[in-house]
Amino acid sequence: MKFFIDTANLSDIKEAQALGVLDGVTTNPSLMAKEGITGRNNILKHYVDICNIVDGDVSAEVIATTYNEMVKEGEELAELHEQIVVKLPMIKDGVKACRYFSNKGIRTNMTLVFSAGQALLAAKAGATYVSPFIGRLDDISTDGLNLIAEIRLIYDNYSFETQILAASVRHTMHVIDCAKLGADVMTGPLSSIEGLLRHPLTDSGLAKFLEDYKKGN
Ligand code: E4P
Repeated sequence: MKFFIDTANLSDIKEAQALGVLDGVTTNPSLMAKEGITGRNNILKHYVDICNIVDGDVSAEVIATTYNEMVKEGEELAELHEQIVVKLPMIKDGVKACRYFSNKGIRTNMTLVFSAGQALLAAKAGATYVSPFIGRLDDISTDGLNLIAEIRLIYDNYSFETQILAASVRHTMHVIDCAKLGADVMTGPLSSIEGLLRHPLTDSGLAKFLEDYKKGN
């Protein structure tokens, strides 16, 4: 399972990269705004800064909502750096743009996916990644993890190569449950990754080992 971090915060990205388990980054316009990154040039520069920190794929989302504009914007994003993956919204023109980029060998991430049908369309359009938003489904009392299971079943039935990128991961149990269900990738905040480290028996066991070592030395 690949670990992506879902942020535009450079220090969090550096922290996850330093842990040695990071495979990529996802961003979105809200995450950029949260870091105070505004204006087209600053946003483009920020994508390059992120690519220079991590070794893996960096999803950069288009703002355009029509086919022609998505193609133009996506091409500009893809030219920024070889690690850029063009992130497209799951709307009709987004699917068309996904097919365009797939045909050109440019990697894509279909975002804002909330149903198995949408995920099927993304795979048919040749998406590299499909991003089902599990946390936002949970927010409206719908089981987000069930969607991961449905997509896994459908993709395995037809050997689709599109990777399931579990998105809107909010906490550590989401990460573990997505791994159990066979998601190819998860993207979440730094806390969801660091939470995997924690166990009280590890802490108490280490404290005892150090205490016993001190007694004998
Ligand atoms: C995915 O690519 C999105 O950036 C993200 O996971 C959305 O998460 P949220 O629902 O916590 O905003």
